[in-house]
Amino acid sequence: MPERVEQTIDRETGQLAVLGGTPAFAERLHVGRPNIGDRARLRERFDDLLDRRWLTNDGPFVQEFEQRLARMLAVRHVVAMCNATVALEIATRALGMTGEVIVPSFTFVATAHALQWQQITPVFCDVDPATHNIDPARVEALITPRTTGIIGVHVWGRPADVTALGEIASRRGLRLLYDAAHAFACATGGRMIGSFGDAEVFSFHATKFLNSGEGGAVATNDDALAERMRLMRNFGFAGYDQVVYVGTNGKMGELSAAMGLTSLDAIDEFVAVNRANHSAYGAALAEIPGITLVPYDGVERTNYQYVVLEVEEAETGLTRDELQRVLWAENVMARRYFYPGCHLMEPYRTYFPHAGLLLPETERLVTRVLTLPTGTAVDEAVVGRLCSILRMAVEDAPRVRRALPATGDGA
Ligand SMILES: Cc1ncc(COP(=O)(O)O)c(C=O)c1O
Repeated sequence: MPERVEQTIDRETGQLAVLGGTPAFAERLHVGRPNIGDRARLRERFDDLLDRRWLTNDGPFVQEFEQRLARMLAVRHVVAMCNATVALEIATRALGMTGEVIVPSFTFVATAHALQWQQITPVFCDVDPATHNIDPARVEALITPRTTGIIGVHVWGRPADVTALGEIASRRGLRLLYDAAHAFACATGGRMIGSFGDAEVFSFHATKFLNSGEGGAVATNDDALAERMRLMRNFGFAGYDQVVYVGTNGKMGELSAAMGLTSLDAIDEFVAVNRANHSAYGAALAEIPGITLVPYDGVERTNYQYVVLEVEEAETGLTRDELQRVLWAENVMARRYFYPGCHLMEPYRTYFPHAGLLLPETERLVTRVLTLPTGTAVDEAVVGRLCSILRMAVEDAPRVRRALPATGDGA
């Protein structure tokens, strides 16, 4: 259901806001507005945890959350954490990754930071322009004597090439971790994402398909690895006074687990809404030249959480950034992802000033990609209105371009 999205497009003139019309939406429409499950059930869970006075430290809700996730993903272990960034740090450390680890640059910066935070060098690999995921054909050329692992990212909930990456990792004796922050409730090759590589890391951040406010988890079939991660997320405590590792505080609390469980109850509904929105976007965008909706066709099972456009300026007459400014003026807060690429963010930009030479597809992609709002805050009427803004902008591209200020970051 749309939540408080008012429909106030300027019907007098039908004018785009950048050309002087009234914004199409009275309130800002954000990418990643949280999906909220059954509030009554959430309140019941909050009452339960308050009654128990058990707020953190491996409480009953965290245990239930881990068990339900493990069952759903068909893995032996799920270790819930405070967020995916700390989960990535703990997983890489527990896997013994050191030296250099190969990662895509086309990812959220946390994938690289989780390594750098532990003095591990992220070595950036280019992506396959068709899938937006790390290109396995380019991985081997980056392996050096210092390489200990690979982190694949399932961007947009579209699985990375787990077969090719698994083959390279086992042949070259490397650890293989997946950043599955986007890919909860997705599957490939008859298996749920969560069961590939040595381990997979999920994010349950507010903007993600399944949210626990803040939160994350690592899924693995490796008993010893799961045990090490459980110790590491709790300061390395093996008993009341017995510390056996350098640990950190990576625990998920009971409030987050209550939220996570309530979201988990509602995932079928969330998928259905995302799927309907995605196909409405597909239908409405099909006629606009130069704008391609990144499809989920051929993905066995996905959460449809991301509506991603690729903009071809030669056909639209407007750059991706210009279209973003058109949308922002209408209160549609479309986002560039993962602009400008990790390798152009600090400290990587300073450490590896020439990294871009090996990342031509990434550098092209970050200028083309624009993500649009979806989820339970959006419905087909919103999609229709939003796409008509894009259509009007492309049809009137020269005028729109003249009306936009010459420079600007986003809108
Ligand atoms: C690909 C990717 N990796 C890691 C993260 C970090 O997740 P968290 O915010 O839970 O730390 C995010 C999103 O925030 C992400 O999109």
